[in-house]
Amino acid sequence: MRSSLLCVASAAGALAASVKCTRDQFQDSSYAPNDVIERDFAIIGGGAAGTYAAVSLADQKKTFAMVEIADRLGGNTATYQDPATGASVDFGVQLHLDDPIVHDFFTRLNSPLGPFSLEVFGKPQYYDFAKKVAISNYTRGTPGPDYVAEVNKYPFVDDLNKLPNPVPADLLLTWPEYAKKNKLSTASTEAGLYWPATPGDPLKTTALAIFNDGNHIELAEFSGKAVKNANSDNSLIYRNALAELKEHIFLKSSIIAAQRSTDRKGGVQLVANTPTGKKLIKAKQLLVAMPPVLDNMKYFGLDQQEQPVISKLSGKHYYGGVVNNTGLADGIAYTNAAQDRPFHVPGLPEVVEIAPSSHPGYQFYWYNSEEPKSRAEVESAAKSTIQWLQTQDKGNKKSEPQFLDFKDYSPFHLTPPTKDIADGWYGKMKGLQGHRNTWYISALFVVGSTQIWNNTHNMLPDIIKAAQL
Ligand SMILES: *[C@@H]1O[C@H](CO)[C@@H](O)[C@H](O)[C@H]1NC(C)=O
Ligand SMILES: *[C@@H]1O[C@H](CO)[C@@H](O)[C@H](O)[C@H]1NC(C)=O
Ligand SMILES: *[C@@H]1O[C@H](CO)[C@@H](O)[C@H](O)[C@H]1NC(C)=O
Repeated sequence: MRSSLLCVASAAGALAASVKCTRDQFQDSSYAPNDVIERDFAIIGGGAAGTYAAVSLADQKKTFAMVEIADRLGGNTATYQDPATGASVDFGVQLHLDDPIVHDFFTRLNSPLGPFSLEVFGKPQYYDFAKKVAISNYTRGTPGPDYVAEVNKYPFVDDLNKLPNPVPADLLLTWPEYAKKNKLSTASTEAGLYWPATPGDPLKTTALAIFNDGNHIELAEFSGKAVKNANSDNSLIYRNALAELKEHIFLKSSIIAAQRSTDRKGGVQLVANTPTGKKLIKAKQLLVAMPPVLDNMKYFGLDQQEQPVISKLSGKHYYGGVVNNTGLADGIAYTNAAQDRPFHVPGLPEVVEIAPSSHPGYQFYWYNSEEPKSRAEVESAAKSTIQWLQTQDKGNKKSEPQFLDFKDYSPFHLTPPTKDIADGWYGKMKGLQGHRNTWYISALFVVGSTQIWNNTHNMLPDIIKAAQL
């Protein structure tokens, strides 16, 4: 171990040394016995997909080791808990479909479910945050029967595993082009653009991506078939999963080298950098439960089949945070609507919304950008928006917003470029499932925790079978 450590540090210097150490670091003899971890499965990423897989595998008496880069599980589920006031504010994942897959998972992890009432989102009031003017005559549209009729034309959009090749050309139009061609009402066109938390520039988003997000499941949720943790603590399932499985989970850890065999017998060997030193994880099958963008996959030794597919994928930049002492009225969704852009779509980068939480006095906000932003930049924009909004309504008062929590959701909503979708990218990505003992289970073909759990549930039998060969 001592020699391989040294060697990683000096690898940039000497090619010969780096080749030698690459070999060493996959050998048991380079590690103390406790640092060699042999399991059925390695799971990289402890968000919705990774946690669901870990719990399911544990329940089926399979062994696993999970590597998670953050100091917590839950991925895009984020909950701020204020010890001073008892407030609990979900500022990532808001709701789930009222469906057995959700009930079962919440029950399994001792998290009480409650109804999600759309009223929690608040009464929208519209302002152009950039120009600092109230948009007083405007009400944003909701999806009408014409939207539903369009999405019904493409039953496969819920799950892009089922995307046909060739992809129907209309779906590769931008959403405004699609809406115009298919004569959608303004209300339905706007609804498509504003599915909560649509990252990137909605005007450039393909109809495929809009429908994949605003699909049948989301329509059902927005017609009231939605649930959440009864105490606005959607993270409880993840804290409970961590408490139960922590001996198999490496937090604040990442993979720095990997060897993945082309045959089943060879399995995978991964070197993980952890707070307690380097570990060699030897597993039969690997579950990639983090966003599989190139930056995350660069130490996995991608081959000539994987590299051209994975390298096409990118995600959007999206941020959120929790704030109190805003001086803003409770129950109002302060919503950014540009005065003079098509469909009132806000420009980028901008605060999307200052939203009420289920705890009076606390708001959360979302921020959308095409470029990466620092926490300071995002909070400064949110602060100036809040302080301007304080002057906009008699019910609001001057006060110093207090920023309590922050999360970077990037890379969010992964997609390849449109021309690659036309070239059959989704089929190629699907073709990588199981290749070199590696499976991709995070958000890629589906959007949202409910579908990620369902998709992982559906894939696990094949993954388990692969480990038995
Ligand atoms: C609101 O509507 C009125 C009448 O249609 C119009 O004159 C006015 O310019 C509108 N105001 C805004 C802010 O759009
Ligand atoms: C805002 O949060 C802080 C930090 O927990 C707390 O001390 C304060 O009482 C809260 N303010 C309000 C108005 O709830
Ligand atoms: C779960 O997956 C099955 C099989 O693909 C599908 O029929 C069902 O609609 C999915 N349910 C959800 C909630 O995604």
